[in-house]
Amino acid sequence: MPSLDKMTCIEDLRQVAESRVPRMFYDYADTGSWTESTYRANSADLQSILFRQRVAVNMENRSTAGAMVGEKVTMPLAIAPVGMLGMQHADGEILAAKAAKKFGVPFTLSTMSICSMEDVAEHTGAPFWFQLYLMRDRESMKRMIQRARAAGCSALMLTLDLQVIGQRHKDIKNGLSAPPRPTIANIVNLMTKPRWCMAMAATRRRSFGNIVGHVKGVENMSSLASWTNEQFDPTLSWADVDWVKEQWGGKLILKGVMEVEDAVLAAQHGADAIIVSNHGGRQLDGAPSAIRALPAIVAAVGDKLEVWMDSGIRTGQDVLRAWALGARGMLSGRAMLYGLGAFGEAGVDKALAILHKELDISMAFCGHTRLQDVDRSILVPGTYPTA
Ligand code: GLV
Repeated sequence: MPSLDKMTCIEDLRQVAESRVPRMFYDYADTGSWTESTYRANSADLQSILFRQRVAVNMENRSTAGAMVGEKVTMPLAIAPVGMLGMQHADGEILAAKAAKKFGVPFTLSTMSICSMEDVAEHTGAPFWFQLYLMRDRESMKRMIQRARAAGCSALMLTLDLQVIGQRHKDIKNGLSAPPRPTIANIVNLMTKPRWCMAMAATRRRSFGNIVGHVKGVENMSSLASWTNEQFDPTLSWADVDWVKEQWGGKLILKGVMEVEDAVLAAQHGADAIIVSNHGGRQLDGAPSAIRALPAIVAAVGDKLEVWMDSGIRTGQDVLRAWALGARGMLSGRAMLYGLGAFGEAGVDKALAILHKELDISMAFCGHTRLQDVDRSILVPGTYPTA
């Protein structure tokens, strides 16, 4: 039996999650679009950046603390919005939000979550961030934004890179749906996941909690891909960004920016932060890795808004690399959900502790005690992308 105290890295958690989470949900997370070249490049490009080891520097009293959109963080790493977290583990969003609160990092609830925002607010009592997908029906969107405000969400994260959904072959082959359909293949697979089944049998949260009963015309939305194609607004424009900003009236984070032109537009349209992201390699396969896109965007708009990054962050060292190249906040989805799928809330606690330790110790090896003082001088020249 795998035990939590034997988990020393995110890869350990991934392996346990792979054995405990039903195939279709594990595959949903651990995949990229088409050839998965961007998905692979995200991590590979981060790992190819080398650190400069310094010695005989006082390493006592270290701190990785900082702030993201004005909110204090223990380390600059938020839990990324991930659809269907509540299918990685029963009540997944509530458990992950609780773990984030304990650790002092932000949790982002996806529009496509299983637990609703009201449910998460009730069970965590914490402000969290809400990620919004713009759908065609503006009245429903208005209500969703109002609900996020009423639930106490402290920032809104608008995703810009999923007007249409990228093709992930495994989701089609697996017939991804929430809850899983009772096909022979699913039943056979579920029989090998007793822990998942028992926890799922004990919860009522098994469908898309933010949507079902709230968004017009959505009665049965178990098929994510076809539902997304029907409901998401393919006409999303910068005028809609203005509209969302006006409806929301609070901190606005724009997710999915990969090019300088778009980063400049985001600044012009009043974003508080942007996330350099290719959606974890799940949308435009063949796009560069996020870390490659980062330096030019930091150079262009880093003095106007907070530039953050996601896509490929699997270790605390990756957080340090992206920070050194100017990102002032990182997001991680998969690293956290491996913890969640493997051990529930305690697994997310563990994932956060692992990532923090990797960040903290690596920073020390590079000769720093405060993350705030770290810049690209900790990196070996020629091994990192430049603007
Ligand atoms: C949705 O955000 C997805 O990537 O599946």
